[in-house]
Amino acid sequence: MPKNKDAVYYSDYLKLDTLLAAQQPHSPKYGAEAHDEMLFIIVHQVYELWFKQVLHELRAIHADFSKPQLDDKALYLVAHRLRRVLTIQDLMNDQVAVIETMTPQEFLEFRDYLVPASGFQSIQFKELEIRLGLTRKTRIAFDQQSFYNRLNDHDRSYLEELEQQPTLFDCVDAWLARMPFLEFKDFKFWDMYQKAVNEALDHDEAIIRENAVDDDQLATELKGIQANRDNFAALFDNDRYKVLQENDAVRLSQRAMLSALFITQYREEPAFNLAWQVITSLAEVDEKLTIWRYKHAMMVQRMLGTKIGTGGSSGHDYLRRTTEQNRVFKDFFAMSTYLLPKSALPILPERVREALGFSSLSALEKGHGAT
Ligand code: HEM
Repeated sequence: MPKNKDAVYYSDYLKLDTLLAAQQPHSPKYGAEAHDEMLFIIVHQVYELWFKQVLHELRAIHADFSKPQLDDKALYLVAHRLRRVLTIQDLMNDQVAVIETMTPQEFLEFRDYLVPASGFQSIQFKELEIRLGLTRKTRIAFDQQSFYNRLNDHDRSYLEELEQQPTLFDCVDAWLARMPFLEFKDFKFWDMYQKAVNEALDHDEAIIRENAVDDDQLATELKGIQANRDNFAALFDNDRYKVLQENDAVRLSQRAMLSALFITQYREEPAFNLAWQVITSLAEVDEKLTIWRYKHAMMVQRMLGTKIGTGGSSGHDYLRRTTEQNRVFKDFFAMSTYLLPKSALPILPERVREALGFSSLSALEKGHGAT
């Protein structure tokens, strides 16, 4: 690395003059300064900085996934960067406690000066959602409106253009779908797997029948088991799978779903470990974002009660509903329904393990040394 030419001064490098001059409360324009407005501004700005870093990581991950091939080195970097995103998300979730030190009354001292600005207009947050894969079809609208109505033309066209690009979800789907290990010629893995899952569901059904308190509870729980059986059967039937997709019961393509299931079942195998880490981390990104939505919604309820938001939504009620609806990688969570304990998994024959790239392990086991 070449040596730097000019001496660097801490505050110049970090542009602290600009950064620290950017906290400008509005309350003094109307009377005495509301003490807590400074906290409100700084907390939002800190979030926007973390959004910026998260987007920096996600754009790089997205670019890697957009390539036709993703080798192990690139996949390692993706997993590494996703772990960084998750660590930042933990921080963002904990940070809700800081804004909660402001009481609702303290907030009322300056709230009216903010109208009609709103978190809806956080373009970085909306980019984060869109880049991950939240679409107009999947996201919840507030009072039949779109947050797009609240944006200026520049921001609206930036996000609308982004919506036209394949999302990270689309790229991950394509990556999983092109994995080559779903057909094994004469080894009927998926037949064995279906049999094992059906046995596990039979076992669950027997437990439900033994423990049901009354007929209503029994009927509800049996309905749940039947839905699981139907969804599982549909994984292996093109037409039924399409119906699940049309009904928004699943979003991943059928091939991607089976790959994800296979990887998750055999995650300890070296060839699948990185892919499994990536799948799990994406599910965690979704989970931690949902936790943020929930914490933000609870904080908003404390601050506003049932008042509407400055952006015109129903406030807490809208935000609470986003925690259920605005999810991207739901399929990775639903997949757990069909996971089997290691002991119940079909054992992969040696030739299949070798074909899947577990041969270094096989060689070690045979005493031939690692490759
Ligand atoms: C006193 C504190 C806060 C209150 C009362 C509040 C209130 C609200 C309300 C009511 C909404 C729904 C949209 C609307 O009608 O305006 C909203 C959305 C939002 N807020 Fe906050 N908020 C607060 C703090 C924060 C902080 C610290 C952040 C951090 C960046 C934030 C980010 C957002 C985002 C990104 C949305 C859009 C969420 C979505 O559409 O799913 N808010 N907020």
